[in-house]
Amino acid sequence: GFTSTKEYAELEWPIDILITLVWLAYAAVFFATIAKRRTSHIYVANWFYGAFIIAIALLHVVNNLAVPVSLMKSYSAYSGAIDAMVQWWYGHNAVGFFLTAGFLGMMYYYVPVQAQRPVYSYRLSIVHFWALIAVYMWAGPHHLHYSSLPDWAQSLGMVFSIVLLAPSWGGMINGMMTLSGAWHKLRTDPIIRFMIVALSFYGMSTFEGPMMAIKTVNALSHNTDWTIGHVHAGALGWVAMITIGATYVMVPRLFERKQMYSISWINTHFWLSTIGTVLYIASMWVSGIMQGLMWRAVNTDGTLTYNFVQELVERHPFYIIRLLGGIIFLSGMILMAVNVYKTVRAERDCRG
Ligand code: HEM
Ligand code: HEM
Repeated sequence: GFTSTKEYAELEWPIDILITLVWLAYAAVFFATIAKRRTSHIYVANWFYGAFIIAIALLHVVNNLAVPVSLMKSYSAYSGAIDAMVQWWYGHNAVGFFLTAGFLGMMYYYVPVQAQRPVYSYRLSIVHFWALIAVYMWAGPHHLHYSSLPDWAQSLGMVFSIVLLAPSWGGMINGMMTLSGAWHKLRTDPIIRFMIVALSFYGMSTFEGPMMAIKTVNALSHNTDWTIGHVHAGALGWVAMITIGATYVMVPRLFERKQMYSISWINTHFWLSTIGTVLYIASMWVSGIMQGLMWRAVNTDGTLTYNFVQELVERHPFYIIRLLGGIIFLSGMILMAVNVYKTVRAERDCRG
C-alpha cells in the first residue's frame, strides 16, 4: 500500500501537508485565544497545551521531511541510522507531548476543579514543566538499543530516560497532593478516583519506562509483549482514565446540568476501567517476560531451545486475558456513552 514506512508517521507527503495545515489552524486558535486573554498570567495547564501544540508541529514536520517522486511515493530526507534516530526522536516525543503534555494540561485544570483545591505546588508545576520538555527531547535512542545507532547515543538516551523519572513524578506528585486535606473525597467521588488512579498509572508507566530503557533490561523487553503492556499502562491507565475523569466534569457543565445522570454508573465505570487495564497490563507483563526468556534460552550446544511457534503457543492464554481486559474496558466506555446520553437528554436544571 501507500506508506512512508515510519511508525506512527506512515502517511505519505500530501497527507502530511494537510495534517500540518490542520495543526496550524489549531495552533492559531489556541495562541490567538491566549493573546486575547484578560489576565496577564498564563495558567500552567495552558503552558502544557502550548508545548504540546508547538512540539507536535516541530516533530511532525522534521520527521516527515521527504523528497517526493510521485503523488503517493517519497523518500525520507535522511538516510540509514540518522533516519532511524530522527524517527525515534519523533516517536518518543510523541509519547511525551502527544500522550503526556496535553493530558498533564487536563490534569492541572480538572483535578483542582473537581477537588475544589488549588494546585499543590505552583512552583513545582513550573519546574517540572521545563524539566520535562528539556529532558524528553533526548530520550529517543532508548528505542534503538543494540541497533546500528552509535553506542554513545544509545547510552545517552538511556541516561536521559532515567533522569526523566524525576520530572514525570514531579507532575504525578503535584496532581496527587492537590488532594491533600481532601482525601475523603476519594471515598465518595468516583470522578476524583478516576483522576487519582490515572495519575497512579502515569507514575507507574514512567517508572517502568526508565527501567526498560536500561540496556540490559531492554535486551529482554524489546519487541516483546512487555512493551505492549507498558504502552497500555500509559495509554489506558493514564491517557484514557484522565480523559474520562475530565469528560465527566465537563459534560454536565457543557450542557448546563447539575451533575451526570448517574453517579453510581460512574463508579461502576471506574471499576470496569481499572480492572480492564490491570488485566491488560498484567497479562502482557507475564507474557512479555516469558517471551523474552524463551527467545534467549539456549541449549548447551548453542542452539535455540524454543522456536517461535512454541513461544507463541505459550502466550495464547495471556492473549485471552488481554481480550477479556479489553472487553471489560470497552463495556465501561459503553456505560459512559449511555450516561452522557441520559445526561444530555435530562431536564436542564442548572445554569452556567
Ligand atoms: C519516563 C517516561 C518513559 C520512559 C523513559 C519510557 C521508555 C520506554 C521504553 C524503554 C520503551 C521500549 C522501547 C523498545 O524496546 O522498543 C517504551 C516504549 C513505548 N512507550 Fe514508553 N516510556 C515512558 C513513558 C511512557 C508513557 C507515559 C507512555 C504513554 C502514555 C509511553 C508509551 C510508549 C509507547 C507507545 C511505546 C512503544 C513504542 C513502539 O512502538 O515501539 N511511554 N517506552
Ligand atoms: C480497550 C482498549 C484497547 C485495547 C484492547 C488495545 C489493544 C491493542 C493491541 C492488541 C495492540 C497490538 C499489540 C501488539 O502488537 O501485540 C495495541 C497496540 C497499541 N495501542 Fe492499544 N488498545 C487499547 C487502547 C489504546 C489506547 C486508548 C491507546 C492510546 C491512547 C492505545 C495505543 C496503542 C499503541 C501506541 C499501540 C502500538 C504499540 C507498539 O506497537 O509498540 N491503545 N493495542
